Amino acid sequence: MKINIGFVGYGCFGPSIIPYFLKHPYVGKVALAELIPERRAAAAEKFGLTEIYNSFDDMLEHGKDINCIAIHAQRHIHGDMVIRALKAGKHVYSAVPMAMTREEVEQIVDLVGRTRLTYVLGENRFYDPTVLLCREMYSSGGFGKFLYGEAQYTHDMSHFTSYKIYKGRDNWAGKPPMFYSTHSVSMILSIINEHVTRVSCMGCIDKEWDHMFAPGKNLWDNPYINETAIMRLSGGGVMRINEFRRRVWKSPQTYINCINGTKASYERSMDMHTIQTGSSMDDIRIEDVSERVRPVRNKDGSAGYAAIMPAERLPEAYGEMKIHHDGAHPFAIDDFFRAVRTGKLPPVNAWNAARYMMPGIIAHQSAMRDGEPLAVPDLGNPPADWSRL
Ligand SMILES: NC(=O)c1ccc[n+]([C@@H]2O[C@H](COP(=O)([O-])OP(=O)(O)OC[C@H]3O[C@@H](n4cnc5c(N)ncnc54)[C@H](O)[C@@H]3O)[C@@H](O)[C@H]2O)c1
Repeated sequence: MKINIGFVGYGCFGPSIIPYFLKHPYVGKVALAELIPERRAAAAEKFGLTEIYNSFDDMLEHGKDINCIAIHAQRHIHGDMVIRALKAGKHVYSAVPMAMTREEVEQIVDLVGRTRLTYVLGENRFYDPTVLLCREMYSSGGFGKFLYGEAQYTHDMSHFTSYKIYKGRDNWAGKPPMFYSTHSVSMILSIINEHVTRVSCMGCIDKEWDHMFAPGKNLWDNPYINETAIMRLSGGGVMRINEFRRRVWKSPQTYINCINGTKASYERSMDMHTIQTGSSMDDIRIEDVSERVRPVRNKDGSAGYAAIMPAERLPEAYGEMKIHHDGAHPFAIDDFFRAVRTGKLPPVNAWNAARYMMPGIIAHQSAMRDGEPLAVPDLGNPPADWSRL
């Protein structure tokens, strides 16, 4: 079966990510939908695309032989697009985040369960080198019982807000930070395979940006530029999640600070990664594992895959391609293609995606009530008879 992709949204991220769809060996063709004429023209020129639609609606109506949709439109409109694509019988690859409301998340899980169409959330942090290392160690018992973890996605957005694309669109630029917490939440949950049961969250008010982060200034009446949540996990442990959109250090950072278990801990300090074992100062052992997880620098200065990443499983055509975000996206996209081809359930399926998304949605509700602890609904596991990729 040839997979015909309808790629939606050729904005800032489009030019970097679309080559992974174009070059995959299972792909038949890639069509594009984009609202802005100059962007449609740029995509046609750069990638030689010939089947181009003026909008997602136009593509759904007329792209009859398109069997998969890859959504890369703005962060707050994925949920509705995913639901409409699934209802139209298409497999879906969706950029993060999954959706903005509990109801949309529930509807996506329900639709995927009933149709058995492939849904993949492009949560690249599932394939992050540190996450791979900690998942391997946790599943073999090396950490013992999980006690505590910290993760964050910090991305100062002052450069974004100066982009002309945001001018006049500030009503969605002030999105609650916790609505984009799947990077950080997924890192810890996918290591320990648990879900969040309760959350308490506090927000930080920043007066400098109150033209965007203030009641009445965005679609959510969100006053918070940074949010910090404490989450109770189904196994009894706790994690702390930071979602910061303002910080002094401008480069984006997504990482785990620590995983503490009853037998060992992982810790990161700047670019140094260590595993610590031992139960007293006399027998403490600190192993530097940085070389396994640190992205490699190629001779030409470009980024290469970290040693722990199984790059050999990727299509040969990806070998020559520039990698972004530590090289994790190609794995998510390849898993999407393999899931569509085989009908098997991908790792970042709708049920896992819901577990990565729902805590952030409820966390923001808690922040709006000044930290009141709230229960986080769990939508359960995928059907047991759906064989795994
Ligand atoms: N690490 C990551 O996983 C990562 C990194 C970067 C971006 N992303 C995701 O990629 C997505 C795109 O990000 P971006 O920075 O390129 O956004 P952007 O705002 O620059 O571009 C979005 C594009 O979607 C188009 N669009 C919106 N509605 C449409 C419609 N109905 N039909 C056709 N086109 C439509 C817009 O015109 C725009 O060009 C976001 O969801 C973002 O979260 C993920």
